[in-house]
Parts: sequence; C-alpha cells; structure tokens
Amino acid sequence: MEIKAFNTDIFTIYDKDWALAAAGTMESHNAMTVSWGGMGTLWNKPVVTIYVRPSRYTREFTEREEYFTVSFYDEKYREALNVMGTRSGRDCDKEAEAGLTAVPMGESVTFKEAKRTLLCRKLYYQDLDPAGMAKEVQDKQYPGKDFHRMYIGEVIEIR
Ligand SMILES: Cc1cc2nc3c(=O)[nH]c(=O)nc-3n(C[C@H](O)[C@H](O)[C@H](O)COP(=O)(O)O)c2cc1C
Repeated sequence: MEIKAFNTDIFTIYDKDWALAAAGTMESHNAMTVSWGGMGTLWNKPVVTIYVRPSRYTREFTEREEYFTVSFYDEKYREALNVMGTRSGRDCDKEAEAGLTAVPMGESVTFKEAKRTLLCRKLYYQDLDPAGMAKEVQDKQYPGKDFHRMYIGEVIEIR
C-alpha cells in the first residue's frame, strides 16, 4: 500500500485538535478520543504512537486486534470528539450519540467524518514504567498508578 505524504504540525494535531483511536471490525469495534500521541520513524518505518489507560474499553480492542486507526477531524466535530472522550462504549452507543458513522479501512475501522486516517499495524506495546518516569509526572498523571499502555503502529495506509 502506497503511503501518501502526511504533512502536519505534530505539536498541534494531537494536543489541540485531538484524534480518535479506533480498533476492531465493523461488527465489533470501539473508539476513543486521544490527545497524547506521536508520529515518527522507528525501525525504518513510519510509525504512530498512542497511549491507552487500562480502564478504557477501547483497550480491549487495541489488545485483541492487529490493527488500529488514528483519525483526525475538522473543528466542527469537536463536540463529537468530546462525546467520544467522555462516554464509554461499555455503557452506551457513543458513536450514535456523537453522530459518527463507522466505515471499514483495511482490517480495521475509521469514521466517514474523518478528514484523514492513518491505518496502523501494531508493532509494539509496553506499559509506561514508573521506574523511568520523572516524579512530577508520576505524581500529576498517575496518582492511581494506572499507567498508560503505549502502542506503536506501523502506518500502512493513509486515507
Ligand atoms: C481531549 C481528550 C483527550 C484524551 N486523550 C486520551 C489519551 O490519549 N489516552 C487515554 O487513555 N485516554 C484519553 N482520553 C480519555 C478517553 O477518551 C475517555 O476515557 C473515553 O471515554 C474512553 O472511552 P472507552 O471506554 O469507550 O474506550 C481523552 C479524553 C479527551 C476528552
């Protein structure tokens, strides 16, 4: 699959604009809002990194599936992303509440409303380890010791 160019301001696209991380099939998937993430190069491949806390329902899907997607949206979908980031797919049909429409992408899913989606194949995961973490980060971000699991995926398609 050809990788098209993807030019972006990496310090804005997650932090300010937000994204959706999704995993699963059309029949069984979940997605959540993410604003922590990365993009770059690892093992000579274009990669995307996401961080998923243990409590997220989406985590069951990022664990189960070989692929995940990270998708980006115009500002008019801010409220939809807010719903996807405050409600859990465990408790409700949050896609319907957010007004988003799932569509297939490779062996994964994204949403019709996305302006860009990166389809990623999981290459690596690891739980963030407090042993290597600055104390102020531990104190501020992890009072409950619920360290994020980092997933690094190879970008295999850009839509
Ligand atoms: C702006 C924003 C950014 C978020 N970023 C992350 C993130 O990077 N990692 C994470 O684990 N949760 C993040 N969350 C929280 C999840 O999106 C939220 O807990 C969501 O309800 C999980 O849904 P789920 O249980 O259906 O997976 C974020 C929430 C918002 C509103």
